[in-house]
Amino acid sequence: MSPSLTDTDKMSSELISSAVQVIKAAKNICVLTGAGISAESGIPTFRDKQSGLWERFSAEELANVTAFERDPALVWSWYQWRRGEVKDKQPNPAHFALTTWQQQAEALEHRLCLVTQNVDDLHEQSGSEAIHLHGELWRNHCSSCGAPYEQDIDTQITELVSCPKCGGHIRPSIVWFGEMLPHQAWQSAQRAAATSDVFISIGTSSLVYPAAGLAQLAKAKGAMVIEINPNPTGGQSNRLIDIQLPYPAGQVLPILVNQLAR
Ligand code: OAD
Ligand code: ZN
Repeated sequence: MSPSLTDTDKMSSELISSAVQVIKAAKNICVLTGAGISAESGIPTFRDKQSGLWERFSAEELANVTAFERDPALVWSWYQWRRGEVKDKQPNPAHFALTTWQQQAEALEHRLCLVTQNVDDLHEQSGSEAIHLHGELWRNHCSSCGAPYEQDIDTQITELVSCPKCGGHIRPSIVWFGEMLPHQAWQSAQRAAATSDVFISIGTSSLVYPAAGLAQLAKAKGAMVIEINPNPTGGQSNRLIDIQLPYPAGQVLPILVNQLAR
């Protein structure tokens, strides 16, 4: 069982206070979120086993440019299913805490840049602005000519949709394994990480590069690195972390943001 704030009150409040002190002394903060921040909204993370119809496949097998080339109908119907799963999900207290923080950043005399690997729009739904490194679930474009496809596509439509310009297959505007990150988003994220005094990694397994390299970049430039994850990440990235908050984001972020404003 993951620890929760109630069973580890003293330790957690000391850890949170130390994070608050570090953040209060900072001018530039870069936050990177991953699938874990949306877990408490009921969206399964990537490395959770898939359920139901898609049990046989791993997300890595499908979120993949080669998979789409080989079997576009399969990958398209998976994304339509995912869209159906995500469409009624709401932001949770972690998303709202980051929105409050973004709104208060100027008063707190620091800058906060929010970068996400998530393709859901829960940061936007809660009122935050976020840089999307891996694209956005609700956008589409043509896999042949690249033209954006602006019409809404009902999540019930599991058959492939054709591009009105060239007849190519419409695909979700998501960065797949084997593809480059969007240039501008990646440049902005790198700049935010490299100039940060504090880098906060929230709900990511830190396994997927280049996004996972942002914490290393920040650290190399002298930032303090804080991680919020009930299952702290291991391996190389672990040595990067100065303060580990091993709790669910929806529990720890509201407390942290509340204390920052005091
Ligand atoms: P992962 O599924 O790899 O990792 C999710 C992390 O969230 C894990 O480390 C969990 O321990 C943690 N977690 C779970 N519940 C949490 C909670 N309540 N609060 C905080 N943390 C929690 O997801 P990502 O690291 O985001 O790429 O995955 C990175 C990329 O791999 C994704 O953007 C996606 C995927 O393939 C693309 O689609 C291109
Ligand atoms: Zn086209």
